Parts: sequence; structure tokens; C-alpha cells
Amino acid sequence: MTLRIAPSILDTDLARLFDEVQRVLEGGADQIHVDVMDGRFVPNLTFGAPLVRSLRRHTVAPLDCHLMVEQPERFIEPFADAGATILTIHAEATPHLERHLGAIRAAGMKAGVAVNPATSLATVEEIVPQLDLLLVMTVSPGFGGQRFWEPAVDKVRRARALLERAGSTAMLEVDGGVARETIGRLSQAGADTFVAGHAVFTSADPAEEVRALRRIAGEAADRKVRA
Ligand code: DX5
Ligand code: ZN
Repeated sequence: MTLRIAPSILDTDLARLFDEVQRVLEGGADQIHVDVMDGRFVPNLTFGAPLVRSLRRHTVAPLDCHLMVEQPERFIEPFADAGATILTIHAEATPHLERHLGAIRAAGMKAGVAVNPATSLATVEEIVPQLDLLLVMTVSPGFGGQRFWEPAVDKVRRARALLERAGSTAMLEVDGGVARETIGRLSQAGADTFVAGHAVFTSADPAEEVRALRRIAGEAADRKVRA
């Protein structure tokens, strides 16, 4: 199974953003997770397409944009124009998931859906064929450095079963509280793409932390295969 480490830039020193991004790319980060928040869908306000455009000018790395915004359809074109690779919208943010996922793909990006802890996987069951990425939130979204939501491990297991039943090759991403202490269980449960912000950017050596997270996730996935 391909494992991906996706450092989140939310808790970086945004005044030195590209230096920070380079450090994790040197550590082998597979994609850069960009947390877009509108202060309405979540009680925090971060950044938007202009920041993606700036990043895109400096790197060819996949930009994994997580839209924690109301009416996410407003941002499909701007993020496509800015150079986003993956655009993930929240199931809770729109009644028209199938329409917007189609529009994301039509705009040339990979399409993702995120579900908050309290949101049932049943809300995405019908649109699994349209997914390039399913994001199972392992915290309630809005901030970095939050406490890991333990029931998420079982939810990831059920999400993996859902993707397998549908014959989907979508990425199964987890986001929030992912660290050395939690990534192994998430990998064994079937996650293959791991967002980590606090764990990576508060470490003494972000590049080494990316390597360590991948190592732990890989060892856990191997144990799962041998079990
Ligand atoms: C939270 C965001 C996460 C966050 C990373 O709403 O979606 O991507 O920045 O979380 P930590 O810091 O827990 O890894
Ligand atoms: Zn995120």
C-alpha cells in the first residue's frame, strides 16, 4: 500500500512558509496539506487561493487543500487556477456533494470529501465512486494541536471497508492529532494518507519527523498484512 505523509502548514511560521515547506519536502513529504478556514464553518480564519498560488510558484509538490468553508463550490475555480492538486470539501458544508465533486474533477483537480467526527460515513456512501480522497477527521476541525479523537480508529476501519466494498482506490486520509503515538493504529486500521501539523512543525527536526511518521505507519501496515 502506498503511504503518504501530508504535513499541514496551519501551525507553521507563515512568515517563513516556504522555508518550512522545503524542510518537510526534504524529509520526503508526499503532499502539502493546506487548511483553508472561513471563520464560519469552523471558528478560525486562515488563508485562501492566493497562498496556494504563491506556494505553487515555488514547488511542484501536490497541494492538498482542505476547505473548511461554507458553500465550498465558490472556491473550486479559484483554487484550480491557483494550482491546487487536491480539493477536499466537507460533507457537512453542502447538500450537493455529487455536483461539486464533479465540478472539482472537471476543473482538473482530485476530488475529496471530509467527514467530521460526528458525521456518519453513510453520508458519503453514494458518492464513493466520485472520490479521489476520503478524509476522516480525527479531531473536530478548526485548529492544529488538538487532542486525538480515539473513536476515529474504528471509523477509519469502517471507512476502509466502505472503499473496499466499492472497489475504490481513493486515498483514505486522516487529519488531526496524528503523531508517533497515533499513526500506527490509524495505519493498521487502513488509513494510507496522514496529515500532521503540530507533530511535524513543533518537532526539533521536521524532516526527520516526516521520516519517522512514515516508518511507524509502514511498520504498522506491514504488521497488518502479516496478521
Ligand atoms: C484541523 C486541520 C488539521 C490541522 C492539523 O482543523 O484540518 O489539518 O491543521 O492538525 P494537527 O496539528 O493535530 O496535526
Ligand atoms: Zn486539515
